[in-house]
Amino acid sequence: MNFYDRLILPRLLDCLCGLPDITAERAKLVPRAHGRVLEIGIGTGLNLPHYDAGKVQQVHGVDPAPQMQKKALQRAARTGIAVETVPLMVEQIGAAAASYDCVVCTFTLCTIADGVSALREMRRVLKPGGELLFCEHGRAPDAGVRRWQQRLNPVWGRIAGGCQLHRDVPQLLKDGGFRVQEMERKYLPGPRPWTYLYAGSAVAA
Ligand SMILES: C[S@@+](CC[C@H](N)C(=O)[O-])C[C@H]1O[C@@H](n2cnc3c(N)ncnc32)[C@H](O)[C@@H]1O
Repeated sequence: MNFYDRLILPRLLDCLCGLPDITAERAKLVPRAHGRVLEIGIGTGLNLPHYDAGKVQQVHGVDPAPQMQKKALQRAARTGIAVETVPLMVEQIGAAAASYDCVVCTFTLCTIADGVSALREMRRVLKPGGELLFCEHGRAPDAGVRRWQQRLNPVWGRIAGGCQLHRDVPQLLKDGGFRVQEMERKYLPGPRPWTYLYAGSAVAA
């Protein structure tokens, strides 16, 4: 692993994904998680302080980037929740079918290479009636902003660990076998190619 990926990228992502407006979205979504939780792309563990210890039995975090996990484990130690991290892609975890009550996926569908396969795996491991809680940035509704997302994508992807700015989150969820229960769509404050947000919950279609 090169110097940038090992030392700069985890700090950059921790800083960008920890901005106050993003933290406020985590604070709305993550406390809804309950039971056995699978968190996809746990990264540096920015969601961990937002879990409700009274509702969550355990959190399994999967992320193929081991350099992110040191910070995640430090945050985990302060939660009072049993947290385990696995250095794998979600497509590789091989968990039993119907084994989680809830899947949490925040700011990760932008980076997963094959979002549909990843979502199908999330659907497979969710118990019947289990919820996917998601909060993702993606394809903007305005043509002008979308053009900038296209232009910036190649450079941004190299800076931000493969992050794509223009993922069509509702379409990915549908293709991954999910039915959206409720979804908020809005721009957060900040530069528009980066800040169009999709947040809500989905269940198996
Ligand atoms: C922008 S970071 C977001 C981290 C965290 N979810 C958050 O909300 O701050 C995206 C994360 O997705 C992880 N990732 C990329 N591909 C993945 C995959 N196939 N399965 C699980 N995680 C993946 C990356 O390693 C990275 O930690």
